[in-house]
Amino acid sequence: MFLSKDKKMPVKKLLNNLSKSIMLRKMEYISDQQGIIRRYQREMPGWNIHLENSKRFILESSKLKKKGKAMVLGSGWLLDCPVNELAREFEDVILVDIYHPKQIQKKLKHITNVHFIQADITGGLIDLAYHTLNSNKKNFVKKFFPESKSFSFPISSDVDFVISLNILSQLNIIITDYAKRFNHYSENEITELSATIQQSHLNSLPKNKSCLICDYEEELYDEENKLIGVNPLIFLNLPAGNFSKKWNWKFDTSMTYRDDTKTYLNVIAIDL
Ligand SMILES: C[S@@+](CC[C@H](N)C(=O)[O-])C[C@H]1O[C@@H](n2cnc3c(N)ncnc32)[C@H](O)[C@@H]1O
Repeated sequence: MFLSKDKKMPVKKLLNNLSKSIMLRKMEYISDQQGIIRRYQREMPGWNIHLENSKRFILESSKLKKKGKAMVLGSGWLLDCPVNELAREFEDVILVDIYHPKQIQKKLKHITNVHFIQADITGGLIDLAYHTLNSNKKNFVKKFFPESKSFSFPISSDVDFVISLNILSQLNIIITDYAKRFNHYSENEITELSATIQQSHLNSLPKNKSCLICDYEEELYDEENKLIGVNPLIFLNLPAGNFSKKWNWKFDTSMTYRDDTKTYLNVIAIDL
């Protein structure tokens, strides 16, 4: 009989956790998150401006909210999140991510009103995409698209402030990059899926209680800093909200994200 070393965790749950962890690794959620901290270390001057802008906007937006529960969607390394200030201002701060870095969990252990939730912010599409794409039945694969429309992440009505933190374009990219490996879908279908995932995320953010920060397009520059292209990252119309701010994020100047090309991101922050 297979016995868990951790006597408090039933074997079935242990196996579930193991297969979930394999899925997240195969879909590159873990390596992507590691990539974020490595790129930050390489690109500090350009990144710091973006991170400070994000933190300042969150605190500005927080002023107008009731100070009960705050929820951060896509908390990750918390590089862009003023978590200490939020923990002082709000009764509870709930950090949501598909994977919480161990270092962050350890670092915040002493702040008793900060809580971690490991969840899929698409409401379960990661799991559906992984299992659908890895099944061999073609009809089932095609069914994935209509099914994806009904997925959304439930946010409880007692949450007073929801922060969607540099995650809107990430929600679709990781899933669609994985889907592209299987060659089942056309470019149009991939864009449609991206729009569905983003719209459903936007719809899930409660009005007058949210703040959305996201990169909406990427600018590509050659080695001589000549603009060579602009690509959209958001496939829907963003609302005007109560107030907003835009800035440019020097995401990759060392040309490691794309060969021989620098990538800068245009970012918008909206108080919804
Ligand atoms: C670009 S990062 C945002 C920056 C982040 N606040 C930080 O400082 O690391 C995106 C974060 O969203 C998480 N993420 C991506 N897709 C997700 C999903 N479907 N559900 C939950 N978290 C997700 C990643 O694990 C990552 O930590």
